[in-house]
Amino acid sequence: MISNLDHHLDEAARAVGSIDDLDALRALGVELLGKTSVVTEARRALGGLDPDQRKDVGQRLNEVRNELERLVSERRTTLEAVARSVTLEAERLDLTELDGNKRLGHRHVVTQTWERLEDLFVGMGYTVAEGPEIEDEWHNFGALNFPLGHPARDMYDTLYVDHGVPGSTLLRTHTSPVQIRVMEDGEPPFYSIMPGRVFRSDTADSTHMPVFHQIEGLVVDRGITFGDLAGTLEAFTRAYFGHDFTSRLRPSYFPFTEPSAEFDIQRPDGTWLELGGCGMVHPSVLSAGGVDPEEWSGFAFGFGLDRLALMRHGIDDLRELFRNDLRFLGQF
Ligand code: DAH
Repeated sequence: MISNLDHHLDEAARAVGSIDDLDALRALGVELLGKTSVVTEARRALGGLDPDQRKDVGQRLNEVRNELERLVSERRTTLEAVARSVTLEAERLDLTELDGNKRLGHRHVVTQTWERLEDLFVGMGYTVAEGPEIEDEWHNFGALNFPLGHPARDMYDTLYVDHGVPGSTLLRTHTSPVQIRVMEDGEPPFYSIMPGRVFRSDTADSTHMPVFHQIEGLVVDRGITFGDLAGTLEAFTRAYFGHDFTSRLRPSYFPFTEPSAEFDIQRPDGTWLELGGCGMVHPSVLSAGGVDPEEWSGFAFGFGLDRLALMRHGIDDLRELFRNDLRFLGQF
């Protein structure tokens, strides 16, 4: 019996040594040490032996068992080390290697989207404007026709800044306040787009981030109609996504536009996706920007820029854009 065990140990040692993947090793460990293994069977057979034979065999059995455990665990350590170094090698970034521009950086996918949108609207005759990320309550809400205490303010989970009178300073929750700044700073007509970073107290998930990007559009001129708005968004949809895309407007509510609509696009497979909001600029908003609503009318729109990047590239988790994993970003 002892020589059988010794022979089994030799064979097992050879088998363990020839395994080079962790799953197979796990299976072999079960085969060598589990319920139906040679050593377990042998332990069961001990009861049928003479007492002095039982002692010798029992002792050798323990030694063989311990040796098998040691062999398996040693092999596991070796294989894990190999696996780790393979991963490290695969993820290695050689920062000294710049030949053939292979490792040169490129613009982030959000920046690419931002610049494409600017190019597209500039091509349609718009100018690009920007406003501050830290805003006052008036530009973010008041001037946009959200009176103090208006429930529509709750549509935005606002992050306030500890500055001045409590509630008076905030991180802008949308790019719409830049509409007011554009009107304050110039004379109509206006054909402007306003891309930028916005902030809301949201928990990050696959469709939300506390910091994200929007692009706002504002057109103010004489005789601007809802048809101009629909036509502009349709032209944008085809230019940005391609001629097999189309758009529609659905009635909605925003305090700063009247009438207001949601702007959806239809993909070539027939499915619809909501992109943002739009509408005819409310007369009070024109007045707040110093523009006479008797003489001028206009439309506005605003949508999520990151969302466009996701859609265009078929990315399904917004958080991926901001993890800064070069293996991910390098694809775009
Ligand atoms: N500011 C809105 C938001 O963040 C989006 C929006 C809706 C902008 C309608 C507009 C508009 O200019 O007309 O939810």
